[in-house]
This record gives sequence, C-alpha cells and structure tokens, in this order.
Amino acid sequence: MGNNLIPLRIAGVGYSVPDAVITNDDLTKLYDTSDEWIYSRTGIKERRVVSGEENAIDLGFAAAKNALEKAKMAPEDIDLIIAASSAPPDLYPAIACHIQARLGISTQVPAFDITAACTGLIYALSIAKAYIASGMYKNILLVATDNNSRLVNWEDRGTSILFGDGAGAMVVTASDDGVDDVIAIDIKSDGSIGDLIELSFDGKNCPLVEQYEPKPQGIRMNGRGVYTFVAKVLPHYVENLIANAGMKAEDIDYLIPHQANIRIIQAVQERLGYSDDKVVTNIKYYGNTSAASIPLALAESVEKGKVKLGTTAVLCGFGAGMTWGGAIVRLREGIC
Ligand code: COA
Repeated sequence: MGNNLIPLRIAGVGYSVPDAVITNDDLTKLYDTSDEWIYSRTGIKERRVVSGEENAIDLGFAAAKNALEKAKMAPEDIDLIIAASSAPPDLYPAIACHIQARLGISTQVPAFDITAACTGLIYALSIAKAYIASGMYKNILLVATDNNSRLVNWEDRGTSILFGDGAGAMVVTASDDGVDDVIAIDIKSDGSIGDLIELSFDGKNCPLVEQYEPKPQGIRMNGRGVYTFVAKVLPHYVENLIANAGMKAEDIDYLIPHQANIRIIQAVQERLGYSDDKVVTNIKYYGNTSAASIPLALAESVEKGKVKLGTTAVLCGFGAGMTWGGAIVRLREGIC
C-alpha cells in the first residue's frame, strides 16, 4: 500500500426501536388513505414511533450500549462519539454529548453531532475513517438516531406515511491485523436541490426589527421529485462505487440500502443483478428511519441471521441536502 494510514475495524453494531407500532390501517384514522395505497407505492406496512417522554436520545443510547456490548468494549474505551441525526431533539446539547453522559464516560472525550439526514451513518463512518487512519482517535462510537414521528406533519398524508423512529450504532476501532473493514467509502451532496426535502428550524427575529413570514412546520417533501432524482442517480452511483474499488457486483455478498422506498431499493438491486436473498429490506416494519435506517438494517439482519458474517456488504443511502453516499464494508465474525 505504501502509506502509513491506520486501517479500521468494525467492532460492533447495535440497534434499538421503540415499542409502539402504527400500522397503515391505523393511519386511516388520521386521513384518507389505505394500506393498499401505501404498501404498493412504498413497501411499508407499519412503523415504530416514540411515545410519551421517549425520544431519539433514548433510542440512540440503547443502540450504543448494544453496539458496545457486541464490540466487547467498555464505555471508557471510547475516545470519540459522533451522532448522526436528521433532527435532534435538542440542537444543543448534542445527542453525542447526551450519550456520553448516559454512558457515564468521565474522560471528557469529544462528542458532536452531524446532519446529513438519511446519509448520516455513511458520512459519520467517513469522518471516523479519516480520524482512525490519521491516528487521531482509536475507538469511535457512531450513533445514528431519529424520531421523525415528532417532526412530520401528521396532516400531510404524502410524507407522514413514510417515516418511523429508530436508532443504530456502530463501534469502529483501529485494526491491529492490517485489514481495513472499509474497503471503499464515498459521500456526495448537491445543495442546489435542497428544497426537495426541508425541515425548518427558523425561530423569530428580534422583536425590535421587521418580522418575516415563518415557514410551515414539519417535514416538507416533494416526494415525486425525490423519487425521480434518486431513481436516476443511485443505481449508477452504487455501480460506480463498486467499479472504482476494483470490484464487481458479484464480489460483494449483500446490499444493505437506506430504507426509504422499496421501489428505489429494487432499482439498485436490479442494476447490481442481485437476488432477493442478497438484499436487506426491513422497510415493511419500520418505514424510513432516516439516519438510523442503514445501521438498523445491518444490525437487525445480522442478529436475525439473514446476513451471515465473514462477508462483505455495500451500504448506500440518500437524503435531505440532497446528500448521498456509499461504502463497501467487511462484516467480520463477532460484530453482532
Ligand atoms: N394515501 C392516498 N393517496 C395519497 C397519499 C396517501 N397516503 N399520499 C398522496 N396521495 C395522493 C395524492 O394526493 C395524489 O392525488 P391526486 O393525483 O388526486 O393529486 C396522488 O396520490 C399521487 O400523489 P404523488 O405524491 O404524486 O404520489 P407518488 O406516486 O409520487 O407517491 C410517494 C408518493 C411519497 C410514496 C413517492 O413519491 C415516494 O416514495 N417518493 C420518495 C420519497 C422518499 O424516499 N423520501 C425520503 C428520502 S430520504
């Protein structure tokens, strides 16, 4: 290789979802829709939602504990925490700071959040890879968690059918056997089409100056526009990611995509020529859990035995920004 970059090992993955289930039939109590309409267009049958005081920090904390156990690491071993969320319950303190406190880490390790919407885990992994490669940090906890159910407009049947709540976490560490579990990683954005999915957090001007027209509350999305953009870009992007790594689609065992729409997943699957047993989908039960979607799909599919270890997987995601990204990873024995 001829460089001094330190390779990364994925040491553990974990997940957590809230208990409350909302089915498509339940949504007919809110607006004019049907299970048939939702399922045929999205692949979603039900989603989990937080209730009462529960929020994305609780889900993220549970997923983090789960990933640490799998990694056989103590909270005190962690030297950096990065949380990815589309809309944290608090803008500050960061989710990562809350999780540091809840894990009882007393060593004042840095903790911060990033916002790359549903691509958050890929962005966080890319940041972690650079930190580990440089030797700056050794054991990094990544937490991807979202409570979209608090942020959708429950009167908008075009968006509120899609989203659910959940969390996924990953512990990554400096690899001591020279093998890098991130075979390839790439992240992208195009801010010029940022208006396809928006969630405003705009406050109010100083009362002594002119006020402005506040934007509508809740997630606003041009569903058709998102679908058209992603269906055009993502299959080709994933194909290129694999080719640029000097690999062929058949060299990779699994596709673990962001769970936003079953038809988008199928478009990527078709481009790669994968059979159903190589593609992880849990959108039917969770809907789109934003940043949590990829690590939740990864950890759950390994736990349930759908994904075998000692294998490789291509992860890919897209979301508000617009952002998108992909990674080819090794899934070693013992991560879950
Ligand atoms: N139930 C019944 N009818 C609904 C409905 C619902 N839940 N939501 C919308 N409709 C209606 C619309 O009002 C519209 O009716 P009209 O033709 O009388 O005006 C019709 O269905 C078609 O609406 P449209 O928004 O064009 O539907 P669509 O076929 O594009 O499907 C999505 C909507 C949201 C399922 C689809 O666009 C999608 O999945 N996009 C991708 C979104 C995504 O992945 N976002 C997350 C990115 S991270």
